[in-house]
Amino acid sequence: MSITEAQIKPEINIKDVRKYFPIFEMPENRDLIYFDNAATSQRPLQVIKTWDKFNREYNANTHRGAYRIAEKATQEYEKARDKVAGFIGAGLSNEIVFVRGATEAINFVAYGWALKHVQAGDEILLSELEHHSNLVPWQMVAQKTGAKLKFIEFDESGQLKMEQYFQLLSAKTRLVAITQMSNVLGSITDVKSIINSALQVNARVLVDGAQTAPHMPVNVSNMDADFYVFSGHKMLGPMGTGVLYAKRERFEEMDPVFFGGSMISDVDYNSSTWNDIPWKFEAGTQNIPGVIGLGAAVDFLQQIGPDSVRAHDQALTDYALEQMQLIGQLKIFGPLTNRGPVISFSLADIHPHDLATFLDSHNIAIRAGHHCAKLIMKRLHVPATARTSFYLYNNKQEIDQFVITLDKAKDYFSKWI
Ligand code: ALA
Repeated sequence: MSITEAQIKPEINIKDVRKYFPIFEMPENRDLIYFDNAATSQRPLQVIKTWDKFNREYNANTHRGAYRIAEKATQEYEKARDKVAGFIGAGLSNEIVFVRGATEAINFVAYGWALKHVQAGDEILLSELEHHSNLVPWQMVAQKTGAKLKFIEFDESGQLKMEQYFQLLSAKTRLVAITQMSNVLGSITDVKSIINSALQVNARVLVDGAQTAPHMPVNVSNMDADFYVFSGHKMLGPMGTGVLYAKRERFEEMDPVFFGGSMISDVDYNSSTWNDIPWKFEAGTQNIPGVIGLGAAVDFLQQIGPDSVRAHDQALTDYALEQMQLIGQLKIFGPLTNRGPVISFSLADIHPHDLATFLDSHNIAIRAGHHCAKLIMKRLHVPATARTSFYLYNNKQEIDQFVITLDKAKDYFSKWI
């Protein structure tokens, strides 16, 4: 097979992808139905082995040692940067900075860019769909700078009110920070229209891709986002890894947030100068095996193809929505179309935590709670929801089992409530 063929031909078939995930091979997990993928995904053997191989075979610090294993560690670390850049369609590898996760990436932009470029009287546009990670840092920026936060609401179906966005956008808007997919309702945001309109008023746009980078093709260059953030652990990569993408000119406008080793160019008694981008933003020893493992996760997803992952997720979500709606007293929060594989719901008067515990006793893992998105809970007038979320190793049989168990839960709790 030529190199070009190998690049374009998916090498892993999504239909039998489950066999690559050792967690499902554990005798106690053989029947586990893992439906909490919006919180974290499982990891394939390729990722685990890559992490393990670093520790066994070439554990050394990067960009420092003049010896063989240190050079190998540096090469593999930088190769991961190239892979991530390719995966999200970044023009340059140095537009990628490795961080601990999407939360840290947003904090980086808040401290390193916004505190410098947002002023009193400016406005930061957010939406009611935001995870606390894409809300609380902006509250800090607003409090420190005197800027104002404005919120785009979501409609009855859980989609953003785009008309309201166009009205809120003005010459005062300095930044729009928006999720590409709600981690509660699954709604997908039209980030392309958001960015096109923001450009008209010279506002910068940060896109929270924590729920989209794992699940659909992403191209930050076509999207024209100023900043794009996501976590590695939700896309088959190791925990403690994440990515901050920024356009070159945005990184040039940004101050470092962490100071210390390897982010400097020169150091004197009272002042220092900074290393080149992206290393200027990567102070101290990084999560080197984690980042190299993230590179392996990207390889894995590329071998399947982001389009196939999206099609698979979509088919499962459509099927689940269809089956769940057949259950009486089950309420789905969020849209039925233009959505990702995250479904929030309530069942009769069962508390979501009781429901999650009941499902766990039948080997089904879902999440219950406010999902770090209290603005959504306030709008829905609920303290919590139950949430199921799918990924590439899930299948229709698991959804059938889930739906049967929801019915059983309804029967069981009807005796108590
Ligand atoms: N943000 C993650 C979730 O939605 C943890 O579950």
